Amino acid sequence: MTDSDKRPRRIKIVGSGFYVPDKVLTNADLEKMVDTSDEWITTRSGIKERRISAPDEATSDMAMVAARRALDDAGVSKDDIDLIVVATATPDTIFPSTACWIQKGLDADHVPAFDIQAACSGFLYGMIICESMILGGNHKRVLLIAAETLTKITNWEDRTTCVLFGDGAAAAVLEESFDESGMLAHYWKADGNLGDLLLQPGGGSREPISQEVVDKKNHFVTMKGNEVFKHAVKRMGEAAEKVVKKAGLSKADVDYLIPHQANIRIIKATGRRLGLPDEKVFVNIHKYGNMSCVTVPLGLHEMKAAGRLKKGDVIVLVAFGAGFTWAGITYRW
Ligand code: ACO
Repeated sequence: MTDSDKRPRRIKIVGSGFYVPDKVLTNADLEKMVDTSDEWITTRSGIKERRISAPDEATSDMAMVAARRALDDAGVSKDDIDLIVVATATPDTIFPSTACWIQKGLDADHVPAFDIQAACSGFLYGMIICESMILGGNHKRVLLIAAETLTKITNWEDRTTCVLFGDGAAAAVLEESFDESGMLAHYWKADGNLGDLLLQPGGGSREPISQEVVDKKNHFVTMKGNEVFKHAVKRMGEAAEKVVKKAGLSKADVDYLIPHQANIRIIKATGRRLGLPDEKVFVNIHKYGNMSCVTVPLGLHEMKAAGRLKKGDVIVLVAFGAGFTWAGITYRW
């Protein structure tokens, strides 16, 4: 047996890219739309502004820009990928999958394509699935995209939700790693018993779209925010601690935490669970709000683009979302 046969096998990100729409909606804009204030939104959530997709801009449109940027960053073309996986809770259509629309748009009909639905945990679920795909020997280079147009399923008369969400896309090219960098460990869970706390009730087979569903506004996101908050704090902290342990590391080994950006108070609580000072916890929620599964890959991309990551850094990625689903990944840069 050679040394290379004994090394732990892992996957890594070899390129990344993102896209957000141009339109910015500030807290001051929201003050004119619903009974809220910049002060309430900032202190309760940490959000100052968010991006809004254009009326004719679908999830796949944004995803394709992010995907092309990730392919360029990796120095490969769409002909070099052999699978497209898309995380989204806001697909272009219920079917076909958004991944298929993206495959068409990228002119990549040589590859299979499918969506995964794990809400805000979607990108981390995607990485975990792609790890098996790649290390199982079935695929060499996967394009994993997270993309959301949450503002298209937002009830702009509901101040408890409309101040929170934003639109955007982030993509990563994944391959097997042949050095020390890459995904060291993962942890993923779900609890469907709590699905009613955060959902889009209408438009599926439980409540097919109808005038009544629209009149009841059940085609929009509904959330019991303060209930979700408690679970998010508990589960993101749990995922962060477990995934560090699974990697055979201690909290002191962690250089950065990149948590899902749903609420600054949840972000800070998760940082505290790992004993990290604020400067080691990635935050961009003030700029973009909650973009569901997009926030973690965008955070990783922004950290990389800003030159904040150096070879060997240990990063913990963690997310929590509707389902409930939650997940963590320990990653060596
Ligand atoms: N402006 C002003 N007041 C408001 C607003 C608003 N936009 N929204 C709610 N309020 C009021 C409420 O009506 C309530 O008033 P009351 O005390 O008179 O009844 C008061 O503010 C407090 O409301 P809470 O819901 O208890 O406020 P909380 O501190 O919990 O903050 C928030 C709300 C920001 C939604 C928070 O609970 C949260 O971030 N929850 C978690 C979100 C999350 O993690 N989601 C998971 C991922 S998202 C996904 O999967 C797509």
